[in-house]
Amino acid sequence: MTKTYNITLLPGDGIGSEIMAVAIDVLELVGKKFDLQFNCTTALVGGAAIDAVGHPLPPDTLTLCQNSDAVLLSAVGGDKWDNLPAALRPEQALLGLRSGMGLFANLRPARIFPQLVTASTLKPEVISGVDMLVVRELTGGIYFGKPKGIFTDEQGKRRGVNTMVYEEGEIDRIARVAFESALLRRGSLCSVDKANVLEVSQLWREQVIKVSADYPTVTLSHLYVDNAAMQLVRRPQQFDVIVTGNLFGDILSDIAAMLTGSIGMLPSASLGAPHTPGLFEPVHGSAPDIAGKNLANPIAQVLSTAMMLEYGLHLPAAARSIESAVSQVLDKGKRTGDIMQEGCELVGCRAMGDAILEALAQPA
Ligand code: IPM
Ligand code: MG
Repeated sequence: MTKTYNITLLPGDGIGSEIMAVAIDVLELVGKKFDLQFNCTTALVGGAAIDAVGHPLPPDTLTLCQNSDAVLLSAVGGDKWDNLPAALRPEQALLGLRSGMGLFANLRPARIFPQLVTASTLKPEVISGVDMLVVRELTGGIYFGKPKGIFTDEQGKRRGVNTMVYEEGEIDRIARVAFESALLRRGSLCSVDKANVLEVSQLWREQVIKVSADYPTVTLSHLYVDNAAMQLVRRPQQFDVIVTGNLFGDILSDIAAMLTGSIGMLPSASLGAPHTPGLFEPVHGSAPDIAGKNLANPIAQVLSTAMMLEYGLHLPAAARSIESAVSQVLDKGKRTGDIMQEGCELVGCRAMGDAILEALAQPA
């Protein structure tokens, strides 16, 4: 019997609708190939939602997401909404989805496709073979800690305040996700903190060490975040799984992304408790400068669709077929502008999507 899945699609802003169009076609084809049915519902988010209904994350959108089997998002944001007060900016939709859906674990794999080793700004010998996973805590830390705000004292002087706070339980559950991921990979985990300065990081380190007792076969190491940033560009092959808090993970995952040549290649998964829907999205943003020009690289969106099938719907074979189609298209020398290399064929977003579909249509 055909299995049916309810998917919420959030194309958002900028290049969102162009790359989502490719993902929709990929889903349909994968469905035919593996006898699956995806009932997709598109909803408003980000700047598009601000324009339509005055709020970056309309309650209807959040409810729909919470009640679906998985959520596929493209990107939000753009110059047009940059001057709105913080609470009404498109980026707030991401924070609202993360907290509203309880998505505490953000998985950001950074794997270099051998075909793109010369497309990175780093030397091929430094980045070849890079294959790491950044596990970022996503619903705590300084992004959500209280007190927060801009406060004015009696003299009229203003103070900006954010609070980096982690409770034991929040650290334990993200540590477990990271240890489990390491078990499925090469068995090594590096926890990143700033325990030489911050108390919140001292607790982080203590808890990660406590949880490690349940994972005796995983090799655990620790780095301070400044050193981790340096090591990521110095010798990135040393990393398997990295686990870190919300802010450090935001920064380090951008560095990890760039090692692979283009942020336009990287997918991500945000997961909550078991049996609750996950959210899957490219690591890149909405790229307003190239929106509507058929220039965007749809690969991160397509690979996010693969992550959705694997981590969200537990359909690893379907995920593998998408990844293999992407790899075949790179073998054929098709490149969007962001990953263009000498001797390759420059294609637009749609043509890249069509090439992926053509590869996917081949029998497995
Ligand atoms: C990310 C982004 C977001 C974050 C912004 C847009 C809120 O940078 O997903 O990495 O800081 O988490
Ligand atoms: Mg970021």
